[in-house]
This record gives sequence, structure tokens and C-alpha cells, in this order.
Amino acid sequence: MELFDSHCHVDETQFDADRAQVHARMLQAGVGRFAVLGSDLPTSRHAVEYALSHESAVAAIGFHPEYADRCDEASLAALREMAKAPCVKAIGEIGLDYHWPDNPSRETQAAACEAQIALACELSLPVAYHVRDAHMDMIDLLKRNKPRLTGGIMHCFSGSWEIAREYLRLGYYISFAGPVTFKKAPKLQEAAVNVPLDRLLIETDSPYMAPEPVRGRRNEPANVRYVCEKIAALRGMDAEELARVTTENACRVYGLC
Ligand code: NI
Repeated sequence: MELFDSHCHVDETQFDADRAQVHARMLQAGVGRFAVLGSDLPTSRHAVEYALSHESAVAAIGFHPEYADRCDEASLAALREMAKAPCVKAIGEIGLDYHWPDNPSRETQAAACEAQIALACELSLPVAYHVRDAHMDMIDLLKRNKPRLTGGIMHCFSGSWEIAREYLRLGYYISFAGPVTFKKAPKLQEAAVNVPLDRLLIETDSPYMAPEPVRGRRNEPANVRYVCEKIAALRGMDAEELARVTTENACRVYGLC
């Protein structure tokens, strides 16, 4: 089985104590490649350093909606400079997150997202989006910015099949994480069954979003196999074939093939 974890944070401090074992389990599970994503300037810089020192990793850089208020001109210039590293294959994770009341205002989030879409367009890089409780506004924002869209990934997809279809029409890949394995996720599972095979991705978002049967624990890239097995079972196909196809898709979206 050859797997690609299209979104994780294995470079973060939660893995400092046992990173070597985490990497060993990853290889054992067949996860040959993975993407690490930043959410502000320091974590983006760290993701780049991590990808530079791990051949199997690619990096994405950007400001998560939670940190949208830090995405000023100087920060955008720093991202532009960082993107010169050949391991930087996307802008992300960026987007809209209305879940937490403490997050920056919706206007601030939208402004940061649009500025980073413009940067991605300038650099010809795809975008990895984080969208929580904000699908309708995200779809509107993308439609408004249509000439500047460079494609990319709707990471840890959390919507229905109807919403997935809107993102597919805009040219995006849909990536599923742990929640698709949960028992009470019929809408998400319906989306995972219907997304065309050539637009489907799998991820862990580790250390978050641990899938069944390890739900509630610290997640790690090796667990992407559970996401793969679940979606394969839902679609009535061979897990090995789904691993192959999603790996191919991840390579395509990150410009590795
Ligand atoms: Ni993430």
C-alpha cells in the first residue's frame, strides 16, 4: 500500500518526544509522502525547514483564519520570500473559520484569504483551504476571485455532497480526514462516496482529527490508512487501489508529477 498524507502537522511540538517512532510507523504503514502546513509565519517557516530536511515531505505556507489578523503586507512579503524554497508546493492553510467566537472578524478573515489567493496566483501555487462553519461564504469568496484561482484542496472536508459539488465545479480536490470514519457521519460519507476518484484526497490533519479506531488519541500520519480503508469500504473498492489513486492525486495537486 502506498499512501500520501495530504495534510498533517507532524513537524509540530506534539511530536518532539517520539518523532523518530512516528516516522517509523508512518513508513511501516506505507505512507511514503506527506504534506506539512503552516498556520502563521513561525509555523510556515518551520514547515519549510522540516520539508527541506525530510525528502518525503512537501510544505505549504500561509495564515490560518485563526491568525488572519497577522497577515499584513510585511507577512505577505515574508511568505513570498519563503516560497522560493523548492519544497514549498502550496499556499495554506488559509480560509474561513466561523466556529470560534474569538477568531478574527469575518471581514479580517476574508481579507487575509483573498490576499493569499492573490499571492498563490502570483506564485502559480495551488491553495490548501481550511473551512469551518463557513462553506457558503467560502463559495461566494471563491466565485468572486475566480480569475485568480489556482486550484488546490478543500482540506478536512466537513460539508455535504451538495457543497462538495460546488468546490468540485470550482476545480478543487476534496480531502477527507478522520471524521469520515465516525459512526454518525452519513452526510460526510455520502460526499466521500460521490467525489470523483480523480479529485479525492486523504489526510490525517495530525495531531488532530484521529480516525476510528484510534479516535480521541493524538493522531499521526500512519493513521491515514484508516481513512483510506473506510472510504474504500464505503465505495466498495479495494483499499490498495484507493491508496494508489489518492497518492497519484496528491502528487498531481502538489506538482510532484
Ligand atoms: Ni491543518
